[in-house]
Amino acid sequence: MSSILRTEDLRVEYRSRDLKQTVNLALKGLNLNVSAGEVFGFLGPNGAGKTTTMNVLLGYVKPTEGTAHLFDVDVREPIARQRIGYLPELTYYYKFLTVEELLRFYASLFEIPKLEAESRIDRLLKLVELEHARRQPIRTYSKGMQQRAGLAQALINNPDLLLLDEPTSGLDPLGRMKVREIIRRLKEEGKTVFFSSHELGEVETICDRVAILHQGELKVEGRVDDLMARYHCNLEQVFLKVVEYQPQP
Ligand SMILES: Nc1ncnc2c1ncn2[C@@H]1O[C@H](COP(=O)(O)OP(=O)(O)O)[C@@H](O)[C@H]1O
Ligand SMILES: [Mg+2]
Repeated sequence: MSSILRTEDLRVEYRSRDLKQTVNLALKGLNLNVSAGEVFGFLGPNGAGKTTTMNVLLGYVKPTEGTAHLFDVDVREPIARQRIGYLPELTYYYKFLTVEELLRFYASLFEIPKLEAESRIDRLLKLVELEHARRQPIRTYSKGMQQRAGLAQALINNPDLLLLDEPTSGLDPLGRMKVREIIRRLKEEGKTVFFSSHELGEVETICDRVAILHQGELKVEGRVDDLMARYHCNLEQVFLKVVEYQPQP
């Protein structure tokens, strides 16, 4: 299988901007490899380094050491990002726009011809279940609808790889289920999905493989069923073991 996303000994240090220049080691030599068609869950407590990893892949953060590749192209080359879609943890859209207008705007950034853009918008609004609200301003949307508008935006360039940073956080169970269903359909279309999440139950149901990151280090990586068999417990319990959670007596 071809490698779609790969990091090698990725190390990221953030330095504070004051005179002390304190170093915060966000990634301590991360090795990841995601193959075509996989749904890959990227797990870890807050501050583990998930967003930093995505930011390196997106070219927003430069690694201190190590390399990262998308489609076998070094992420230092902007062309590495030609076939990806990205949904950040927090989205900031012009809330007076309707989802249709938002998608037209993004389609124009990708220089998608008008007719093609309209047919993609129709298809995407169906996929994310926002056809009924396509002419309403985004400010009238629930959090779940806003998140699905974000997913449609991340898909407008018909990417082969999706990077989703906590796509279900803050959503109610129905909202989470809808996002899960969209990820499942994207997989059926042959897309590769790399997403971070804290919802371990949902990760267990939709991911082929997961990686658990803790304090910038990869602690565990593998197929969900293999991990559960290896640790004799469900993914949540694997996670708690990996982060060495000790309940208070
Ligand atoms: N821009 C930044 N400047 C300095 N430190 C940062 C920055 N972004 C993240 N960090 C630090 O890097 C570590 C990893 O953060 P992050 O990648 O956001 O984790 P996660 O997404 O897993 O919650 C944390 O200690 C965080 O405080
Ligand atoms: Mg994060």
